[in-house]
Amino acid sequence: MAQTRGANRKVLVLPGDGIGPEIMREVLRIVHFFDRRHIASFDISEDLVGGAAYDAHGTPLTEATLHEALSSDAVLFGSVGGPKWEKLPFELWPERGLLRLRKEMDLFANLRPAVVFDALADASSLKREIVAGLDLMIVRELTGGIYFGEPRGIETLSDGTRRGINTEVYSEEEIERVARVACELAKKRRGRVCEVDKANVMESGGLWREVAQRVRDSDYPDVELSFMYADNCAMQLVRNPKQFDVIVTSNLFGDILSDCAAMLTGSLGMLPSASLGPADASGRRKALYEPVHGSAPDIAGKDVANPLACILSFAMMLRYSFDMTEEADLVENAVRRALAAGARTNDLAAPDAAGISTRAMGDAVLREIEKAV
Ligand code: IPM
Ligand code: MG
Repeated sequence: MAQTRGANRKVLVLPGDGIGPEIMREVLRIVHFFDRRHIASFDISEDLVGGAAYDAHGTPLTEATLHEALSSDAVLFGSVGGPKWEKLPFELWPERGLLRLRKEMDLFANLRPAVVFDALADASSLKREIVAGLDLMIVRELTGGIYFGEPRGIETLSDGTRRGINTEVYSEEEIERVARVACELAKKRRGRVCEVDKANVMESGGLWREVAQRVRDSDYPDVELSFMYADNCAMQLVRNPKQFDVIVTSNLFGDILSDCAAMLTGSLGMLPSASLGPADASGRRKALYEPVHGSAPDIAGKDVANPLACILSFAMMLRYSFDMTEEADLVENAVRRALAAGARTNDLAAPDAAGISTRAMGDAVLREIEKAV
C-alpha cells in the first residue's frame, strides 16, 4: 500500500434516512483515515435520498442526484424509509428512490454474502454448530421480476371492489446475465450454484431452471448446478445453511431469503451488499453498496445502531469496484478483530448485556485498522 490509490475515483455517498446517516458517519471516518494515511483517496460527494430528499425537494430521488449516481464510479448507500413518509402517495415513498436508482443504473446483480464471524457464532439464534464457519453468497436478481413487472397497480372493478396487481416477468436475457454472475463467483469459491425458484407453480421459474442449466453447460462445466424450490430453501437455510455455496434467485425470493440468511450471522446488522451493473468495454461496472438492513426508525438518532453492515459494504466497494483487495481485507479483518475483542452493539450483545454505541463500534474498528497499517 505504498502509494495512494483511488484519488480519481468518484464516490457518491447517500446516507438516506433513519439510522443511515449515523452508520455512514462511521464509514466516512474510515474513508478519512485512509485519506490521511495515504492508503486510499476518493473524490467523495454527498447527497440526499429517500425521505430526506423528499423533505428537501419533494421527491425521493432528484434528477441531479440520479445524474451524479450515473456518473460516479460507485455509490455508498445507507438506508431509506420510515413511518414519517408512509402516508405519501406510493410513487413518493422513500423506497421508490432506491428502486429507481437500481433500475436506472441497471444494477441487476445483487451480491449478499452471509459470513459468520467466529466471535459471533453464539450470537445467532441458531446453534453454534449449525452456523460456525458459514460462508454463503446470495446472488439476487435486482432489476426485474415482480418488483418492476407490468401490469401493476390497483384497479377498481365494475362492482366497485378493487384488485391489486403485480407481475412476475423474466426474459431469458435477464436470467442469463445473473446466472453468469453466480457461476463466475462460484468459480472463485467452492464451485457450487443452487438456483432457487418456484418452478412447481410458476412458469417463469421453469424458465429460470432451463436458462441456468444452459449457461452452466455451455460456459461453466466445472460448476456444479442444483435446483431448489424457494420454500424448501427457506427451510434449508435454517436447517443446514452450510450446504450452500452460491444461491442465485429472483428479486423477490432474494429479498426474503437474504433477510433469513442475515440472521444466521447473528444480526441483520451484519450483512453488506453490492449491486452491480453490466461490465462496460473497459470492464468497469456501475455499482451501489448498501447494508441489507433497513432504516430502523425505532432506534434512529440514538447512536445504538450497528454500523458493521455499512462498513462491510464499504469493504465490498474496495474489492469489487476498485480491485483494492488488500484494503478490503484490512477493513474486514479489523471488523473480525473488533468482534473478537468483544465489541458488541445491542443487536449482537447477550440479552442481559448492554451494547456499545455506534460511535464506539466505529472506534473499535478504526483502532484495529490503525494497529494493522
Ligand atoms: C432490500 C430492501 C429493499 C427491497 C426495500 C427497502 C425496497 O428490503 O434491499 O432488501 O425490498 O429490495
Ligand atoms: Mg429486503
